Amino acid sequence: MVGIDKINFYTPNTYIDLEELAKHRGVDPAKFTIGIGQSKMSVPPISQDTVSMAANAAYPLLTDNDLNNIDLIVVGTETGVDESKSVASFIHDLLGIHPFAKSVDLKQACFGATAGLMMAVDFVRLHPDKKALVIGSDISRYGLNSSGEVTQGAGAVAMIVSSNPKIIEIEETSVSMTKSIFDFWRPNYSKTAIVDGKFSNEAYISFFSDLWEEYSKRTNLSLEDFSAFCFHLPYTKMGKKALLPLLEKEEPKNKDLLLENYQYSTTYSRDIGNIYTGSLYLSFMSLIEHASSSLNATDRIGFFSYGSGAVAEIFTGKLVDNFKDSLLAAEHEKLLTNRIDLSIEDYTTMFNEELSIDSDGNHLFNQDKTDNGVFFFKGTDNHQ
Ligand code: HMG
Repeated sequence: MVGIDKINFYTPNTYIDLEELAKHRGVDPAKFTIGIGQSKMSVPPISQDTVSMAANAAYPLLTDNDLNNIDLIVVGTETGVDESKSVASFIHDLLGIHPFAKSVDLKQACFGATAGLMMAVDFVRLHPDKKALVIGSDISRYGLNSSGEVTQGAGAVAMIVSSNPKIIEIEETSVSMTKSIFDFWRPNYSKTAIVDGKFSNEAYISFFSDLWEEYSKRTNLSLEDFSAFCFHLPYTKMGKKALLPLLEKEEPKNKDLLLENYQYSTTYSRDIGNIYTGSLYLSFMSLIEHASSSLNATDRIGFFSYGSGAVAEIFTGKLVDNFKDSLLAAEHEKLLTNRIDLSIEDYTTMFNEELSIDSDGNHLFNQDKTDNGVFFFKGTDNHQ
């Protein structure tokens, strides 16, 4: 039995309240809070980048045993800090993992961490005494005043994959799908993503519908075999747009349970925003940390991973005995409670802040460290 043994997330401690943003953009706040389904959006300070967020998510999970037995570090990201060197190689050093591990990044928009999880599960199936560290870390940026502005966010999720996992066993059958499309992309020369918003929504929904049809055909499972479905959540209404047509079509007896658990799975994303690769796993944590009375060991959870461009996968897992004892719900509540509500002016300034690197590749910040990260980005020295 192989699956997720430990899981944690990190998000920076600064956010913008979306009702406040709506007022400044001249939009009815209900469009953001109900139409999109978002309340707050994490805004990263320049001192939190994809590497530091990834390290901040992973380090609370690691024991000495983990540091000595993690042979594979995989980071899914679409907002790395270098075109060549992997985020995973920085993580290997920052966390002090033993030297004989391999470290690599995987890229396919928001799908990268799922590719990493599947690679890690296969690796541990082959080497049952070894472990893998899988991280999804990203900063989502569409630009101030853009149509995607309200669906930005920042954060990282870290998972340890092992034999006899303490949280969820990943089942063997999954179905993936690829179609080369331009629903959302970011050319190398652009700091912000380009998106065809309506098309991206349609693509997400049709990938889910096609994959579910194929998955149920291959497995003979129906929605009634599931206690909950977790979705990649670019905003919290998105997963529901995909799930509702299926509930209407199949009319499962457990429809109310699936809808109730969908709500639980959206709690964290509603207050953090889109964290791209980590988003599906943030939704999983939100579910298992909030739906404690309606979930039990052996319950089957469905996962829908979607990465624009586009690649998607439906896979499943079964919760294991005493999974509730391995969750960090209290720490997560504290992280989200102790955040700073930014004014629109501070949000704008932070959004526009850029590194000004001199010709020798130097830029060290001269600023007070107000962010909440144990790890943080201090600047560059000689292009390093
Ligand atoms: P928009 O044009 O700002 O919004 O774009 P809209 O006009 O479509 O309205 C959104 C919803 O608000 C609608 O509800 C309106 O009716 C409702 P719906 O019909 O969708 O159910 N609404 C209101 N509700 C209550 N009170 C009101 C009100 N007014 C309107 N007064 C869009 C929205 C999401 C397209 C935009 O924000 C965007 O482009 N976001 C970025 C792209 C995105 O998130 N796509 C999702 C699928 S692709 C994906 O998930 C991959 C991704 O994560 C990237 C990756 O893989 O790396 C993005």
